Amino acid sequence: MTVEMRGEFPAQAAQWIMRARAATLTAAQVTRNVAQTSIRFIRGAALTSAYTIRDTSLFVRALHRSPAGVGAVLPSSAALAAAITQELHADSGPVLELGAGTGVFSRKMLKIGIPAQDLILIELDADLADNLRERFPDALVLCRDASRLYRAPVAQALHVRAAVCGLPLRNMPLRCKLGILRGVFEALETDGALYLFSYGLRCPIEARLLERLGLRARRIQVVYRNAPPARVWKITRRVAVFKR
Ligand SMILES: C[S@@+](CC[C@H](N)C(=O)[O-])C[C@H]1O[C@@H](n2cnc3c(N)ncnc32)[C@H](O)[C@@H]1O
Repeated sequence: MTVEMRGEFPAQAAQWIMRARAATLTAAQVTRNVAQTSIRFIRGAALTSAYTIRDTSLFVRALHRSPAGVGAVLPSSAALAAAITQELHADSGPVLELGAGTGVFSRKMLKIGIPAQDLILIELDADLADNLRERFPDALVLCRDASRLYRAPVAQALHVRAAVCGLPLRNMPLRCKLGILRGVFEALETDGALYLFSYGLRCPIEARLLERLGLRARRIQVVYRNAPPARVWKITRRVAVFKR
């Protein structure tokens, strides 16, 4: 809503001016209309920025603490959030989110209609995890290393139906990726899928790792409206096997 207002403002102002030119409005009416539109625009922009300034500053501080751990210059865009959650719907929960960061994907999942109680958010950075708890009090937020999830009893107990990953996988060594995939696929229902993104052309999970774990990767979208542009991948089991 607030974002739309930003775009509408110049168009509306131009409309008022054109109508005034056509002498259908007095100068006073034009001034009043432009002022009213400006107030609505500034209010909308203030609301939007109050939200993003706090998230962006948290993100930048986390980036400063661990550049490789965050692995991105900006939080993911709304377009990337839409692309990575494109196959999810209100009944897709419970959903596991790895590297939830500022909660861009979590917010999108709530918008889709997945209840907050059905979100399990894993975030290693303590400040970002605290922020997630504040933002999503009904979600389960775990401040822990996603690559060690498989070691905790939590993974087997979760029974999630989908997983979304915002982790900087390209910066991670093979053994971490192995730990992440083991944890995720232990928690995932048989026909569940893991959605992740990469900034490179290739899937950030090496073919030999996919092969070893009996998984396959399929690219489902390229998102240009993200800095930098990203590719979204869907990882599934090759054969739907029984988990345990
Ligand atoms: C690209 S960023 C955030 C992505 C998020 N979708 C966003 O746009 O705000 C990656 C996040 O993964 C977190 N992270 C990195 N390594 C992690 C690990 N081993 N376990 C859990 N979280 C991790 C970072 O702290 C960071 O918040």
